[in-house]
Amino acid sequence: MSELKNKLADKFNPSAWSGWKAWKHYKHTGFNLIEEVNALDPDLVIDVGCGHNRFKGHIKNIIGFDQEPFPFVDIVSNIEDINFRKESADVVLALGSVQFGDRDLVRKHFSKVVEWVKPGGYIVMRTMKDSVTPYHHQQAHYIWTDEDIVNIGNEHNLEIVKGPFVENVLDAFNEIRSTRMAWWYKKPGELTKYKIDPYNCEINQR
Ligand SMILES: C[S@@+](CC[C@H](N)C(=O)[O-])C[C@H]1O[C@@H](n2cnc3c(N)ncnc32)[C@H](O)[C@@H]1O
Repeated sequence: MSELKNKLADKFNPSAWSGWKAWKHYKHTGFNLIEEVNALDPDLVIDVGCGHNRFKGHIKNIIGFDQEPFPFVDIVSNIEDINFRKESADVVLALGSVQFGDRDLVRKHFSKVVEWVKPGGYIVMRTMKDSVTPYHHQQAHYIWTDEDIVNIGNEHNLEIVKGPFVENVLDAFNEIRSTRMAWWYKKPGELTKYKIDPYNCEINQR
């Protein structure tokens, strides 16, 4: 296993990781997404690095994968090894997961994720911005800069349609403990529904 994978396996050990608790602070990338994503009546939603897969059963047609064996993941896999049909997902959620390694690796993972999105579909991003302790920065995070959000989006011909928003995670005294950035990209085109013809297995647009 590479040094990065070792570090992440340690950090995201399913029985020890407590980062899920930050969710109660998220206004843009927490439970609000259930309503916002379901409003699109999605054929497929992919949750990249889903951790506890907590949208399962709440967001329609969601599949969550993670490279760590969290008990409720649909698929245990890393981004590099998994394959979804190109342009099949209405929404890809990349909530804290496309931000590890160096900038090149992050771009490589991001490019792969973009391929899965339908024309007119969305990618919802959450990334680490800052922390009062250096703790997070020792954990193999790449910090997406404001320029990255624009430039990496442009490189992939994506438009920023929501955000970037700041998501603050508070401590027990309501002081800011760490900060995340959150935003939505949109792929150009018109979002269309599909169904798979059960007879000839072709995808029909409707
Ligand atoms: C900060 S946690 C976020 C978990 C979840 N998305 C959430 O919002 O609670 C990042 C997750 O991404 C997963 N992850 C990191 N790199 C990954 C990769 N290359 N492939 C698959 N999962 C990855 C980690 O195992 C971890 O569960």
